[in-house]
Amino acid sequence: MAKDTHISKAIAIAFVVLTISAIAGLITMIILYKAQISAMNPTPPPTVPSTTTVLPPTMRLPRSVIPESYEVFLRFPFYTKILEVVNVTSPNQTTNFSGNTTIHFQCVQRTSTIYIHSMELEVSEAKVFNRNTDGEIQVSSMSSHEDHSEFLVIELNEALESGGNYSLSLVFVGELYHNFDGAYISSYTEGVPSHEGDKSADRFLIITNNEPIYARNVFPCFDEPEMKAVFNVTIIHRRQTTALANAPVDKIQLIDDWKYTRFHSTPKMSTYLFAFAVSEFEATASSYEPVVIKTYARPEAVAAGHTKYAAEITGKILSFYENLFEIKYMQQKLDQIALPDLSPAAMENWGLITYQEGALLYEEGASSSLQKESIATIIAHELAHQWFGNLVTMKWWNQLFLKEGFATYISCFAVDHVEPSFNMKDSFFASELQAAFEVDSLTSSHPLVPPEEDIQRTYDIISLYDIITYSKGAIVLRMLEDVLEAPAFIQGIRMYLRDLSYANGDQNDLWHYMQKGADANNRQVDVAKFMDSWTKQIGYPVITINTTSGEISQKHFLFNDSSQSSLVWDVPIRVMSKTFLSPKPVFLKTSQPEIWDELISSSGDWLLANVNCTGYYRVNYNPENWEALLTQLETNRSLIPLMNRMQLIDDAFNLARAKIVNVTLALNVTRFLYNETDFHPWDSAMRNFQYIYLMFDRTEVYGPMQTYLRSQVRNLYMFFSNSTDHSQVPVDHMQQQSQTLAVQVACNSGLPDCVAMAKRMFGLWMKDNTNIIHPNLRHWIYCEAVASGGKEEWDFAWSQYQSTNDTSEKYHLRHALSCTKKIWLLNRYLGYTLDPEKIQQVDAAEIVSSISKSVAGQVLAWNFIRAHWDYLSHGGPAVLIHAVTSRFSTQFELQELERFAADYHLGSAERVVQQAIEQTRVNIQWVSEHKDVLLQWFERETAS
Ligand SMILES: *[C@@H]1O[C@H](CO)[C@@H](O)[C@H](O)[C@H]1NC(C)=O
Ligand SMILES: *[C@@H]1O[C@H](CO)[C@@H](O)[C@H](O)[C@H]1NC(C)=O
Ligand SMILES: *[C@@H]1O[C@H](CO)[C@@H](O)[C@H](O)[C@H]1NC(C)=O
Ligand SMILES: *[C@@H]1O[C@H](CO)[C@@H](O)[C@H](O)[C@H]1NC(C)=O
Ligand SMILES: *[C@@H]1O[C@H](CO)[C@@H](O)[C@H](O)[C@H]1NC(C)=O
Ligand SMILES: [Zn+2]
Repeated sequence: MAKDTHISKAIAIAFVVLTISAIAGLITMIILYKAQISAMNPTPPPTVPSTTTVLPPTMRLPRSVIPESYEVFLRFPFYTKILEVVNVTSPNQTTNFSGNTTIHFQCVQRTSTIYIHSMELEVSEAKVFNRNTDGEIQVSSMSSHEDHSEFLVIELNEALESGGNYSLSLVFVGELYHNFDGAYISSYTEGVPSHEGDKSADRFLIITNNEPIYARNVFPCFDEPEMKAVFNVTIIHRRQTTALANAPVDKIQLIDDWKYTRFHSTPKMSTYLFAFAVSEFEATASSYEPVVIKTYARPEAVAAGHTKYAAEITGKILSFYENLFEIKYMQQKLDQIALPDLSPAAMENWGLITYQEGALLYEEGASSSLQKESIATIIAHELAHQWFGNLVTMKWWNQLFLKEGFATYISCFAVDHVEPSFNMKDSFFASELQAAFEVDSLTSSHPLVPPEEDIQRTYDIISLYDIITYSKGAIVLRMLEDVLEAPAFIQGIRMYLRDLSYANGDQNDLWHYMQKGADANNRQVDVAKFMDSWTKQIGYPVITINTTSGEISQKHFLFNDSSQSSLVWDVPIRVMSKTFLSPKPVFLKTSQPEIWDELISSSGDWLLANVNCTGYYRVNYNPENWEALLTQLETNRSLIPLMNRMQLIDDAFNLARAKIVNVTLALNVTRFLYNETDFHPWDSAMRNFQYIYLMFDRTEVYGPMQTYLRSQVRNLYMFFSNSTDHSQVPVDHMQQQSQTLAVQVACNSGLPDCVAMAKRMFGLWMKDNTNIIHPNLRHWIYCEAVASGGKEEWDFAWSQYQSTNDTSEKYHLRHALSCTKKIWLLNRYLGYTLDPEKIQQVDAAEIVSSISKSVAGQVLAWNFIRAHWDYLSHGGPAVLIHAVTSRFSTQFELQELERFAADYHLGSAERVVQQAIEQTRVNIQWVSEHKDVLLQWFERETAS
């Protein structure tokens, strides 16, 4: 089954309709995509292999001078529209920009050399003054460092003295590209072009995206998170355009053709948060005293009301955080802006948060409920950063999880506050947990907080924007809160934010304040010792409980069990039985087998550990206890908490994947789904079945497997079929997710009712040209209709794709077009991805990934990727590699992949390719060992 775990663009987050699990990956993937895109920045490829950790000390700025404030002037002669191309007197677009900066800094260590970051800028006229004496200090030379440090080195004729106050001014010119980093040009169309090649509807804007290290592409600066400063910014731009920046506008002057927009000083902040925009966008205001909140977008989107939802919830979320953290939002204004081009999905620039359109604009009647949920989640994530990240910043990028893990974790509480009906918490943590488990089961994973010296080069920094940082980061914080309990946790956070405001911290600081919170609330936990075992070590454990002997032990969980590991964690365990629920988690003591007599003797028929999955570990039991749990699930599943119903499935499948239990146990756990109507257990099963599908959908296992799923999903499908047939959805948000999943699974497994329904609905659309399909259901109904249809359906979907301006609709259709089983149509579609007139380059990788997920398209896509790697890797190489290799399970495929790794320039995709190679090896062995067993199981199960 082609479960679309890949996310593209905005969509990363916003549009993965497949399952909530996709949302899990939501933020994660969004950011992941960012990492991939960044691979295309003009940074030269690292010259040392990624395994080398010895680096020149020149990668980091010396601490001899410390910036205090910047005066920055930036002039952009570019136009937002080029109206009359044929009129020779009309202006041509200009993408160059110029500027100057004056930096006030303090010298804290005597030096006659100033190092500052500058990238792709032509810098001149360096002047240094002593601010105490007003004397000028002569500059003897200025040069770019000939390595990857991106330093501009300014040599002085006399030394700066420690304790002295100085200023440095520089003049520079640069160029704007359409590249998503630093300051760049984004484009969109207004209205509908009158004919092909008509440029009169083209519109342009300038926007920035500076995290982690692109502020240096905009102006020379001390571009490290610890070098916080105040920024006084003036943007000089065309009169009809509007400029926004981090701080509110101070004054606007009109001089000749130009508008000088001067902004108030920013709060003291890191350079990666520096942002501005120049556009003709319009805004929707929210009422929220005393902060002025505005949501900006294309004028057409504002007029259509697409900014309304964001404007409505932003103030509520801000207020939630102000109360939670007991610190008011620090600026007078908060702008949010929806951009046609941005990668990642969103960026938390202080006072000017940028979003992909799909991550901010809710289109009533076209967006699904899942998209609404992801919009709320992304806004909540970015607003959390205004405290976690902007106010208190990590000392260095190796501590990235401090802001990303935290924002991911806390956003779910904010969404729960503003949209209680979403019932977010379970689904959110379920998806984060499973996403983290998956990648952290490989030896190629990395510790949540790697050693600082391992994260120095651009490439190292960018590769940290991954599932580990976001999802594992969120999950270990959740585990900490479970152990400390909410009052101690919140108190710790408040102290941390208060004491480190406008400064930087690392994990030791966070643990220090959490310890204070714990002590104040009588929680006896050694926070640093407990958390270090989770943040500094790679991976996570599987806990094994034998209810007969009462033995309990831990072991590093890895898919590839041949790897030796003696890692040990501080594991908090909460258990329950039919009659007993442990009131708080108890720590598993060291690695020694431990006898939990009391628990075991009270357990009765079964014992369940890791209640509600608050711990970041898997659990295995002796066969008797597994058996008792399965019986409970099949007779009265409600006694087992929902999160655990999900996790039992996930654990069983993954334990089987790691060859710790029999795969038949995992399959047996899916039997209870016959009666299950809740979303999470189904979602978990489908996620895990996906692996089996990928391994066996080219073999004789496929038929019996489809038959089994079809019979399991029938009840679920019928539960909703009255609504589905009339294109209606249940009121309850989680039930809506179940309904969507029911359609996905039923159609994919070929349930005749579902296939007929999809054909009928799509046929009506083709006939009347009115689409009555509910937005929640479009993704899978379109896909099924195209899959079971032919050229006519495909062409119809393609013409709809070209004629709609609706982002979510475009996403559904792009996906549907890849669902066809006709090779010639798939080839045609692949060809389209190379033609920017047909498919925008940013969408190409998503489409190729999507094609590569199907049996019919996988080989086509793999050849295509290798033939057009340079073009496609701009749109997200990690996502592509992950998608196209996910079915690899033969020696031949392994060899091809290894040759690919050796022959191609992989950039930031290098780690993903290594992971794919490791995964392929695991797959080869797994398939050869399990094929017969699986075939027998499915045949037996479907025989009756
Ligand atoms: C920026 O503005 C602040 C407040 O007006 C001022 O104190 C500071 O000196 C300015 N910085 C520079 C470099 O001009
Ligand atoms: C060219 O464009 C300018 C500015 O828009 C306009 O004033 C002028 O009349 C145009 N000339 C012709 C020949 O169309
Ligand atoms: C715009 O560019 C074209 C082609 O390079 C050139 O012929 C024309 O003179 C330019 N127009 C202006 C106003 O600079
Ligand atoms: C920077 O540019 C602005 C605007 O062009 C100008 O007024 C200012 O004098 C320049 N400052 C320096 C130090 O060159
Ligand atoms: C559990 O403990 C019993 C009693 O010591 C032992 O016989 C059995 O083999 C153990 N089961 C597992 C799976 O380790
Ligand atoms: Zn973030």
